Amino acid sequence: MYPALKKEIETYEKRTPKSRAAHEKAYARLPLGVGSNYRYYPPYPLFVRDASGGRLRDLDGNEYLDFNLCYGALMAGHCHPAVMKAVEARLHLGTMFGMPHGAELELAEEICARFPLEMVRFTNSGGEATMSALRLARAVTGRDKIVKMEGGYHGGHDGVTVSVKPKSSDFGSAKAPNTVIVSAGVLKATADATVVAPFNDLEAMEAIFERNPGQIAAVILEPIMMNIVFVTPDEGYMQGLRDLTKRHGVLLIFDEVKTGAKLCWGGASEYFRVKPDIITLGKSIGSGFPLAAFGASADLMDQIAQQKMYHAGTYNTNPLVMAAGLATFREVLKPEAYTHVNALRKRLMEGYDAIIRKTGMVAYVDGAGANGGLLLYPKRIRNYRDWYDGVDYDLWMQYWFALANRGIVAQPFWPDEQWTISVQHTEKDIEQHVAAFDQIAPALAEAQHERLATGTRTGH
Ligand SMILES: Cc1ncc(COP(=O)(O)O)c(C=O)c1O
Repeated sequence: MYPALKKEIETYEKRTPKSRAAHEKAYARLPLGVGSNYRYYPPYPLFVRDASGGRLRDLDGNEYLDFNLCYGALMAGHCHPAVMKAVEARLHLGTMFGMPHGAELELAEEICARFPLEMVRFTNSGGEATMSALRLARAVTGRDKIVKMEGGYHGGHDGVTVSVKPKSSDFGSAKAPNTVIVSAGVLKATADATVVAPFNDLEAMEAIFERNPGQIAAVILEPIMMNIVFVTPDEGYMQGLRDLTKRHGVLLIFDEVKTGAKLCWGGASEYFRVKPDIITLGKSIGSGFPLAAFGASADLMDQIAQQKMYHAGTYNTNPLVMAAGLATFREVLKPEAYTHVNALRKRLMEGYDAIIRKTGMVAYVDGAGANGGLLLYPKRIRNYRDWYDGVDYDLWMQYWFALANRGIVAQPFWPDEQWTISVQHTEKDIEQHVAAFDQIAPALAEAQHERLATGTRTGH
């Protein structure tokens, strides 16, 4: 660990002893001391006491501007008043029934009015939504295989727990990447049915279809790859993919768990003017409650209506969650919300950009809608291998801890994530974020130049 990073981590440790103590205790009963593997990071994660609006406080009482926002699940910000009110109003009318109650139809109407969908089913997490979407694609096409992007993340089920962050020793060819299982316990036979493709490469995709004639049920992808910071499709890629999938009878699934609510009013279909066959939604559509969904045309969803495809769940359409979803669509994700977050995001990007140029940092900043991020790369990255070839974990940790020490949780921990701006953030919050980046940038640029000059990089 180099001195500038060591100094920031020591400062973090001095400021957050209660988080350390809580984490040490949790280790005995919770693997890694946390409830989800991504939440663990060294030396120990921040433990949260409470949060409200665009801010949170840790156990030691330090306050932070929060641009992590639960891995992008809170474009509403913490405890949005309209959502709290709607949930509180429902709370005493029964918390779950396992029976229909009407609110699920209201929410389905909201979703179908906004996204190019005719029918939806609700789930409790994005992972369940993508799992069901893939099952639907198989049910409709009668085909077994699916294609996912190298570096893409779609939740923790076996079919997509492959090639999320593969190492170069396992890569295989750039045009036909290996399917690399991520986790012990994944059923190999299931993983074998997942073919991995490079993002932004139509030629490679066509070759995959030709190598697997009549076997691919669907391509699932994030329209903007937000599990490698922020990677946008090349001009024409999305339309090209749409045309190609149609030609081969392959269904196109937009995994909009991240983009759906936060990119713009109608999500990626509106943004890229491309209509997929199936859409999955999650995270910010629930404003802090476990709400996700998958949907398609009535024709495709008929597989469920005809009881050919099974989709069930005790917690599906929980009335409190439906209330949160309805308040989110009707009172949070309004046109003015997008105007607000777009303006703040532009200001944040401009602020970062000016500081990058001033300090000579080898970096750029990218974003759209509520999301964006700092990319410590000389030029725009186009796919997972570009991300992998340039990522420097230690340098990135300096960025994250240095900002945390100055009261900014810039994004979720890990260099593949990005910031989220909430409707409750203000211009002043953005100025505070930019000012903190201005403070830490000279030391970050200096460390980066030294590491580039000496060829020192903490890769993946
Ligand atoms: C694009 C995408 N799809 C699916 C998921 C899984 O969602 P969940 O964590 O709600 O299961 C995530 C989570 O980060 C995601 O980013």
